[in-house]
Amino acid sequence: MTIEKITRALCVPLALAALVLPAPARGAEADVKLERVEIDLADLPSLQSGARTYVNLCLGCHAAGLVRYNTLLQLGLTEQQVKDNLMFTTDKIGDYMRTAMQPADAREWFGVAPPDLSVAARSRGADWLYTYLRGFYRDPATLTGWNNTVFPNVGMPNVMWHLQGERIRKEEPVMRDGKEVGDGHGGVLKKVSFETVRPGTQTQDEFERTVRDLVNFMVWMGEPVQLKRKQLGLSCSSRSAS
Ligand code: HEC
Repeated sequence: MTIEKITRALCVPLALAALVLPAPARGAEADVKLERVEIDLADLPSLQSGARTYVNLCLGCHAAGLVRYNTLLQLGLTEQQVKDNLMFTTDKIGDYMRTAMQPADAREWFGVAPPDLSVAARSRGADWLYTYLRGFYRDPATLTGWNNTVFPNVGMPNVMWHLQGERIRKEEPVMRDGKEVGDGHGGVLKKVSFETVRPGTQTQDEFERTVRDLVNFMVWMGEPVQLKRKQLGLSCSSRSAS
């Protein structure tokens, strides 16, 4: 897959294609308060919506290589629905959810290969994912033009910017009695805020729901019971058409 195809598929401006990125200097984990997300693995419409977002906006870069497409049948979808709407990287429903991107290309474009996200919800936690995916803001100083509140200098662009809109980070000195307040380390205490400078196609509430559904799906796919199908070799090979 070429980066043009990926960026087009993602509605990321083609300007991104011009970015041939050296390894980014990625900062230490930021000390940011995580926002809580409500997880409900019995909410099938939410899981279906999350699966759609994942295959449309994430799978282009991130495999979910421990999960088979036929596992998605457990979300209350028919085989035809999975094939028509969710399967882009293979035509065999027993196959794993691989990405079409070559790791070498990814390293060249982003400086780092996007990791497999099969168990990201278990390693990072749902609240971290929820805060991270909503935490992008514009930053002309980074290689992608984006930065992130919980993952400073992350190599990933904001792939949901068309939904979320564009935000910038603002820092203002905290004032008390008309004077700047010190931060205790010789500097000035700053209040950080974010301002939306270009709206996305979704309202803030809609975007929160989109991300919540996506994280719900990522928690679901990382559940041992979903992954077990791999260890036990429980493919639906009898059903897999090719
Ligand atoms: C254009 C390619 C691309 C797309 C599309 C993309 N990502 Fe990423 N993502 C990356 C790269 C590159 C990194 C590695 C960033 C780093 O380590 O600096 C990353 C990192 C991440 C991480 C952090 C992994 C970790 O634990 O360190 C998560 C979580 C993540 N992406 C989730 C998503 C989700 C969810 C989507 C879909 C909404 C998505 N990504 C779409 C490129 C992409």
